[in-house]
Amino acid sequence: MAIEIRPVTRDEATEYLRVLPYVNGFPQEEPEASAWYAGSAAWPPQVPRTAADLERYAEEMQADWFRPQAAFVDGKIAGGSAIVSVQLTVPGGQQVALGGVTSTAVLPTYRRRGLLRKIMAAMLDDCRERGEFLAGLSASEGTIYGRYGFSPATFQHRWEVRRTDVAFRTEFTDPGGLELVDGAVAAELWPVLHEQVRAVRVGEISPLPGKWDGLAGGGLPADGSGPAHHLVHRDAGGAVDGAAIFRLPWSPDPERAGVLQVEAFEALTSDAYRALWELLLDFDLTKQVVAARRPVDEALRWMLTNPRALKLTRTRDNLWLCILDVRRALEVRTYAATDSLVLDVHGSGRWRLDAAPDGATCKAVDEDADVSLTVNELGSLYLGGVRASELASAGRVAEHAPGALSRLDALLRPDRAPHNAVGF
Ligand SMILES: CC(C)(COP(=O)(O)OP(=O)(O)OC[C@H]1O[C@@H](n2cnc3c(N)ncnc32)[C@H](O)[C@@H]1OP(=O)(O)O)[C@@H](O)C(=O)NCCC(=O)NCCS
Repeated sequence: MAIEIRPVTRDEATEYLRVLPYVNGFPQEEPEASAWYAGSAAWPPQVPRTAADLERYAEEMQADWFRPQAAFVDGKIAGGSAIVSVQLTVPGGQQVALGGVTSTAVLPTYRRRGLLRKIMAAMLDDCRERGEFLAGLSASEGTIYGRYGFSPATFQHRWEVRRTDVAFRTEFTDPGGLELVDGAVAAELWPVLHEQVRAVRVGEISPLPGKWDGLAGGGLPADGSGPAHHLVHRDAGGAVDGAAIFRLPWSPDPERAGVLQVEAFEALTSDAYRALWELLLDFDLTKQVVAARRPVDEALRWMLTNPRALKLTRTRDNLWLCILDVRRALEVRTYAATDSLVLDVHGSGRWRLDAAPDGATCKAVDEDADVSLTVNELGSLYLGGVRASELASAGRVAEHAPGALSRLDALLRPDRAPHNAVGF
């Protein structure tokens, strides 16, 4: 079999689209028709229902931020993946180019012949050539991507709370106010709000073009999950400082009826955070609130008299990172302390990291290492969401000088858990 790996031309775009994950099925953990996923996700496209859909997606593929690669076997496309150009906020606030791997699939009849391995090599080479020193993805299965150097760097929680279990610890008088707005207003304000969030949230990703366009439509999803509702918080001066998108889907099961699903929630201030959650957790005619894709350091539980009322029902890895250039990656971020350590990153050499709260330098050295690890562990540590000592307990990071692990932990300690509400 003759295998060729190369980018996809316009003429080949519909053939490429046939190989996207929907040929394999697309497991969904939350309703597919959510505004966050279907209504407003620019890419990957949902299952095309008509030939016109396919043509439209093929046209969208021509955008310069979408860089598809395909495996041609005997001239026919048997597998594909793509890099999308996005930006990642790293500790210190820099927004760094990230090659985002997405839409990965190999036709079931061509699996396990090394096609993905070849596609991935071509895509990561392309990232390096463009000067992208970080690649990222979210993984359908946890066993696939470690071998290419990716490792989980952000995590997310799904939680549920019963309305009858909710009591707030303290009374809160909101200096601002809440307002329900329509989809057209929401489509205007979400990009602005998210931009403000992204400037200060480590791990957040820039949205793909068109990300929020679907909010304006406000169409009713076919699966009964109901229309999206848009709640907005304004500060005392009238500026938007928080917003939520939620649905009240119907259910034939009385136990499941009356569940308020929070699809998106952002707050720039503590007032907005408290005001929005206080209304959502005490919404008339509801029994339960469910929120998925939430940060692991959700402050809400600390607002409740019974912190256990907030039940975690799922923890998932979210963004996986692959560090393509150790020096540039370590130099672009800032650190929580001032210190100097030698890291032996297997396969890419030994590096002296001189780190400080206002930046760092990283030089290749021929010195004894304080800590050794692989590029995978470095990817997990990079945003501060995983501690070196935790990976050392798992036998994945080795300490060669006493105290070096705690010093590395102190350098990488984050202000908040890294989180990305937006994916790609
Ligand atoms: C996952 C998928 C893209 C892999 O493609 P592929 O061409 O079969 O992969 P390769 O043959 O290049 O395999 C590369 C390596 O990954 C391993 N691998 C591939 N798929 C795997 C899986 N699902 N679980 C565990 N290991 C897997 C192979 O065993 C091989 O290991 P090796 O290098 O140690 O021998 C393909 O099976 C697929 O399309 N699956 C369904 C859709 C999907 O999961 N897409 C991912 C979206 S994020």
